[in-house]
Parts: sequence; structure tokens; C-alpha cells
Amino acid sequence: MSTVTRNKGNPGAEDAAWSREAQEILTGLTATPKFIPSRFFYDDVGSKLFERITKLPEYYPSRTEKGILKRYAGEITDGFGDAAIIELGSGDCSKISILLRALSEGERRSLVYVSVDVSRGALDESGRLLRKRFGDITVRGIQADFTVDMGMVEKYDKKVLCLFGSTIGNLDPSDARDFIARTGCVMAKGDRFLLGLDMVKERAVLERAYNDALGVTAQFNRNILNVVNRVIGSDFRPELFEHLAFFNARHNRIEMHLKASRAMHVNTPLLTQGLDLEEGETIHTENSRKFLRDHILEFAAAGGFAIRRIHSDSMGWFCLVDYVKQ
Ligand code: SAH
Ligand code: AVI
Repeated sequence: MSTVTRNKGNPGAEDAAWSREAQEILTGLTATPKFIPSRFFYDDVGSKLFERITKLPEYYPSRTEKGILKRYAGEITDGFGDAAIIELGSGDCSKISILLRALSEGERRSLVYVSVDVSRGALDESGRLLRKRFGDITVRGIQADFTVDMGMVEKYDKKVLCLFGSTIGNLDPSDARDFIARTGCVMAKGDRFLLGLDMVKERAVLERAYNDALGVTAQFNRNILNVVNRVIGSDFRPELFEHLAFFNARHNRIEMHLKASRAMHVNTPLLTQGLDLEEGETIHTENSRKFLRDHILEFAAAGGFAIRRIHSDSMGWFCLVDYVKQ
């Protein structure tokens, strides 16, 4: 069985959500320096581009985390029977598929898999794919922003929450801590939380991962302006922006920006004066924080978790932390 629902409790919530999105974008574009929240990357095109990024030789996080999941699948899935496996920011579901493959048919039949993502395209397609791959599991898709609402998972009794891909690194440090604290609040004693963290490493390795030779990350970055155009009715021309990605060592994060190749005026019906950009002006589109071992302990304290196990690769590039609620 597979269902996709938009997480809205009352009529008109969808319109309200759209205007909230427009408001959020306008706040960023009228700030100095300008920014766009990174969750706006993930329309259908952005989700597909991200999938392509995960297959690039330079983008080590995906293949490293998948290697960890494959190697330790038996241990990680111990206790998955009868549970609700709730994946936040599930994307193409390729990572959960590794774990589901390690289960017996009986175990798979006994669980429910819930994917939560802002991208409806990703939810629809991954739901179809999971049904094809594993005819024997119950799949539910929820279109929601997990930084705003985690209440939808509370009703499940025995929970395994998953946030793979180091997606938590796209949140500001205080938002990440708040998110972990809220997650801890919807969990009961014994529930688990599997968290993928990309660790601090050599600058050259990090910067290569966000400046691939084929320019897929650049396309992904520019596509956010197509999303912005749809939400606020603006006329940004993505091709007039250069992709910038570099490691900011002070904050231990990769930053992505879009740099205007010339001065321009951008129209939107939501701002009478429109927007002016100078030549060389940048719009900050993403932070991708890289973690240290101390952060693993910090998240444990924020969520009220004990650490069951930390799985890593031979280079220590990526960690999959298996937390359990106390
Ligand atoms: N977990 C997958 C995908 C990572 S890409 C992997 O590791 O490969 C990040 C995913 O999270 C995308 O599918 C995006 O649509 C989703 N996402 C980003 N911010 C989100 C938010 N605030 N709420 C829900 N989903 C979000
Ligand atoms: C989803 N997220 C963890 C990715 C990252 O690495 O921060 C998004 C991404 N941005 C550029 N490449 C990939």
C-alpha cells in the first residue's frame, strides 16, 4: 500500500503555506547580503538534479554513507520488525532500500515505512519504486517541512527515525539543535534515531564535492531561481549567475552562492520597486555544515538520547549515529 498526503489540518492551509513560502523568499532577497533558504532547491527538477549529484565521483557523501549502510545493515536493522521506519528528507529512498533489503520478508511485512519530504515529486516516485522493489511493505508519504512539524510521527508506537545524507548540516547550528530537541520530544523511550553526519575533512576533498567537473551542482544551484520565479512570480534569469562553492573554515561549512555576472533589475508583482542586483553581488543559497565528534554528543544531549553505536568508514569521512531515546 502506498499513500501520499499533504500535511494540512484545515482548508486554506495550502494557500497559507504558499504565502508563507513567498514571504520567506522575499525576506531573504531583501536582506543584506541576500539569501534563499536551501529547502527551495527541491522542486521536481531540483530533486532529480540532486539524484544526479549523488552519483558523481566527486560527491563522496552519498557513496560513503551507502557503504556504511551496506556494511552494517544487519546490526542497524536489528529491531526494525513491527516498527514505523520514518525517514525525514527521504529523497529517492535509495538509502532506506539498502536497509529494507537486509530484512526478511516477514520483517518487512510487519513494519510501516513513512517518508517525509517537501518534494511531492520525490515522494511519488520513491513510493512507486519501493512498491516495485518490495511488494510486501506498507509505504506512506507525507509532504511536510520537518523543521516546522514533527507531530505527524507521534502516533506511531515503536519508531525508528532516520535522517540520512547529512541533511541536518543544511540547518543553522541553533535550528539543528532545536530540530533535534523537537524530535526527541515526539519519541518514546527506546525509539531510535539514525543520523547521517558528514565529517570535517581536507578542504580540497570538500570543495571538489561541490564543484563537480560536469557542472551538475552548478545547475542544481541555479535551479533555485526557477523555483523562486514560480513562488514570487519574478523574472530572475538563472543563466546570468555564476555558481560559487567554498569551504568556510571558521564555520566548518561549505557555502554555496549565486553571483550576478552583471547588474540587473528583477521584477516581481510582490514588490512594487522590484529588486536590484549589482554586478558581482551574491545570493547565499546553502550552508552544508561538516561535523566533529563533539557534535555527536551535543545532539545526544539536545534530544535526550544515548548513543547505541557510531558506524563510520575507514577514512572517518562520514558517521552514521544510532541514537536511542532515554
Ligand atoms: N536522504 C536523501 C536525500 C537528501 S537531499 C539522501 O541522503 O540521499 C535532501 C532531501 O530532503 C530532499 O529530498 C529534500 O526535498 C528534503 N528536504 C530538504 N529540506 C526539507 C525540509 N525542511 N522538510 C522536509 N524535507 C526536506
Ligand atoms: C542534501 N544536502 C545534505 C546536500 C549537501 O551536501 O549539503 C545538498 C547538496 N548541495 C550541493 N550538493 C549537494
